[in-house]
Amino acid sequence: MPISNEKEIQQPKILIPEIKLQSRITELAYEINHDYRGREVTAICILKGSFIFFSDVIRQFEFPMTCEFLGVSSYGNKMVSSGEVKITLDINEPLENRHVIVFEDIVDTGLTLSYIMNSLRARKPASLKSCSLLLKPECLKTEIDVDYLGFKIGKEFVVGYGIDFAGKFRGLRHIGYIEHGH
Ligand code: IMP
Repeated sequence: MPISNEKEIQQPKILIPEIKLQSRITELAYEINHDYRGREVTAICILKGSFIFFSDVIRQFEFPMTCEFLGVSSYGNKMVSSGEVKITLDINEPLENRHVIVFEDIVDTGLTLSYIMNSLRARKPASLKSCSLLLKPECLKTEIDVDYLGFKIGKEFVVGYGIDFAGKFRGLRHIGYIEHGH
């Protein structure tokens, strides 16, 4: 019998099934393809949580593109945002005069994306837009425009499709949720 002192984490319940995720991502890619036709884009993946969303959406793009990866950490192992954003992996390529789109997994308080957008704006891109798979409108603590949005959700803590809780559940094919207190 396996022995574990760890408090068991409940299995996530389904919030957004795989089929709904994939069809919304195709719609987002269609919209982005339309807006960026004929331009060359720098697509930025915010690590770690966006890596699956990013790989699914960028494979549907029809314009020339380079990919960059920006590592940020804002939650630690907690379920509540600290508001503190730590850069864990920076972009070394110049962004000046580039058409930049930032891909985020989820906007909760908005503090992380707002910090990222401000620091990227300082690198003088020709244009800068954001795309987030998920947004929790009831949790926003700052005014923020998400240019391309997958789904608005409630206050639930979500996992799966790249998004973790304490490092777990990133491999789920759907978006699930786990209840607070676990
Ligand atoms: P914000 O700064 O509060 O908007 O938080 C944004 C970041 O917190 C996201 O990029 C996620 O990494 C993480 N996050 C926010 N909500 C959740 C959630 O429900 N589950 C897992 N991570 C989350």
